Amino acid sequence: MSLSKTAMISIFTAGAMLSACGNSSTHEAPHDTPLRGQSEAPEKSVSALAKDDKFTYANYDEMHVTHIDLNLDVNFDTQTLDGVATLDIARVKDGVNTLILDTKDLTIKTVEIFAGETSEGDVGYALEAADKVLGQALTIPLTDKTDSVKISYTTSPKAEGLQWLSPEQTAGKKKPYLFSQAQPIHARTMAPLQDTPAVRMTYSATLRVPDGLRPLMSASQGEKDANGEYKFDMPQAIPSYLIAIAVGDIQFKAINDHIGVYAEEYILDASAEEFAETPLMEASNEKFYGPYRWGRYDLIVLPPSFPFGGMENPRLSFMTPTLIAGDKSLTNVVAHELAHSWSGNLVTNSSWRDAWLNEGFTSYVENRVMEDLYGERRAVMEQLLSLQDLKADIASLPRPELTQLKLPTDMAHPDDAFSQVAYVKGQYFLMFLEERFGRAKFDVFLKNYFNDFAFQSITTEDFIKYLHENLHKDNPDALTRAELDEWIYGQGLPDTAKDPQSSAFDEVEIASQAWFEGGNIAPLKTEAGNWSTHEWLHFLNTLPDSLTQVQFEALDEAFSLTGAQNAETAFAWYMQAIKSGYEPAFSDLEDFLLSVGRGKFIYRLYGALSENGKEQWASEVYARARAGYHPIAQRRIDEILAK
Ligand code: BES
Ligand code: ZN
Repeated sequence: MSLSKTAMISIFTAGAMLSACGNSSTHEAPHDTPLRGQSEAPEKSVSALAKDDKFTYANYDEMHVTHIDLNLDVNFDTQTLDGVATLDIARVKDGVNTLILDTKDLTIKTVEIFAGETSEGDVGYALEAADKVLGQALTIPLTDKTDSVKISYTTSPKAEGLQWLSPEQTAGKKKPYLFSQAQPIHARTMAPLQDTPAVRMTYSATLRVPDGLRPLMSASQGEKDANGEYKFDMPQAIPSYLIAIAVGDIQFKAINDHIGVYAEEYILDASAEEFAETPLMEASNEKFYGPYRWGRYDLIVLPPSFPFGGMENPRLSFMTPTLIAGDKSLTNVVAHELAHSWSGNLVTNSSWRDAWLNEGFTSYVENRVMEDLYGERRAVMEQLLSLQDLKADIASLPRPELTQLKLPTDMAHPDDAFSQVAYVKGQYFLMFLEERFGRAKFDVFLKNYFNDFAFQSITTEDFIKYLHENLHKDNPDALTRAELDEWIYGQGLPDTAKDPQSSAFDEVEIASQAWFEGGNIAPLKTEAGNWSTHEWLHFLNTLPDSLTQVQFEALDEAFSLTGAQNAETAFAWYMQAIKSGYEPAFSDLEDFLLSVGRGKFIYRLYGALSENGKEQWASEVYARARAGYHPIAQRRIDEILAK
């Protein structure tokens, strides 16, 4: 594999980045957020990149957007963002005078070009034909002197990256709510930009929102100024998919001096309690992988229609309220989103074909932090549960190429990059490397990796090269090239994958087996009295197909599984109920589908319903639930139920 230019640059700039990231421990109040990492020079690299992201129209091999300034009205009446995006550009190739940006469902009003402060006038631009996935290229003619472009535009109410909730759809019922989800390619429905993770830019924003609502962004949080405007700043260069906004009746509660939770009032205290151990997670991450470089770390608990468990928007992770279980049993998702502050946000996959560099590394780091804080037993239980999910995905993915870490060039949609393969096969690959090189060496290697590639977007091949130079070269016997290639370019799970040896679930299996085989439920009840959510999930996920309806009823009666408060437990139970046709669960399942929009649950529930003869019922529930789901979830479920 040849050394790519990004890798070369990263190795040369490593020293400089190291000295720029001293171990400052400055702490800030919630709304005044200088960097804890101190004078972090924003990376405004204009190194040439090979154009290998096919999910963008942008000519990012020719010029880079280095900064975006957004000046927007958040208009709940029209469900639009209206205003101006000003993009600073830097040439990568001389003599190119066309800027191509990504847009989707945007109305472009005017485009004005500038050389420094001087306007070069409005220009004729072209909005090319629309593609269902990619949207429309916006082509803008420049002069040799142009270094910024000012685009006035409006978003569409159907923008896939934005969900507009009416007051009735919120918990408080009085005020509307807006939140965004830009990953993987929805930033282009929020603003015209180079929507590829290969390009990093700083951003700033001025927002005007209706009285009584608070806007937040993945940036320093602004207070309302004398003009009634909120100003935001993200001085560290990030890819477009990390631009994020939330607006609503949102309150704040501090966890410590630089970590806190935003949420609607009804769930604020419970969220702060659930996430109270976030500072320990941060400390654990820093111990292994170096300083947290983003200043504050806040979490926002969004309305239940948020389609993900969590989203690592820098400085402000977006979280589903289904994590608020009351017992901290689902906080690995916090560990995960926080871990992205190293893997993903600091070192970013340069195309979605390399998604495992974000998600696999993050799943690995997440699990190391869980082990550090809660012990090996919990960490291994989480490894085992994920391995089950991975095996199920490998068995059901429509194309074997989608089981590779390095994904094929012809994925239909970047969503295809986010199966359990990127997450769990990626995690197990790093566990394999850890085992081969030894934990001590591997920890140092990863810490250096995050530092040396900080604020860069890299490919799988950059990682392989770096692994060779920094770990493998001096320990050549630890690993063969064929083993490495099998993990990265091969399909399925290699034989060299670690099989987590743990007795963690043995007792669950013994007690459940005895009952499955016709035993009394009393001993199972005694045993299950001590089970954690993880043990419950293992039990529920491995119920035998032969379980009778009478046994389902007995389980439900003993453990009140229908209507379970823990969303993961409820989901696991409903999946089994659907497969076996256990009707008494369906009324609560319906409530679940009408109140929870988290994709991990609802895609699989609708999928299982349509595969198990319940298509009609599913379509009826969906007809009522659809309007409350996020546009991303609507698109996915429309596809699932159309099959
Ligand atoms: N970055 C992802 C969420 C995502 C993936 C958004 C792909 C858009 C496209 C986030 O970090 C994530 O992985 N969330 C997981 C939780 C995690 C513990 C596996 C989720 O939402 O379930
Ligand atoms: Zn993730």
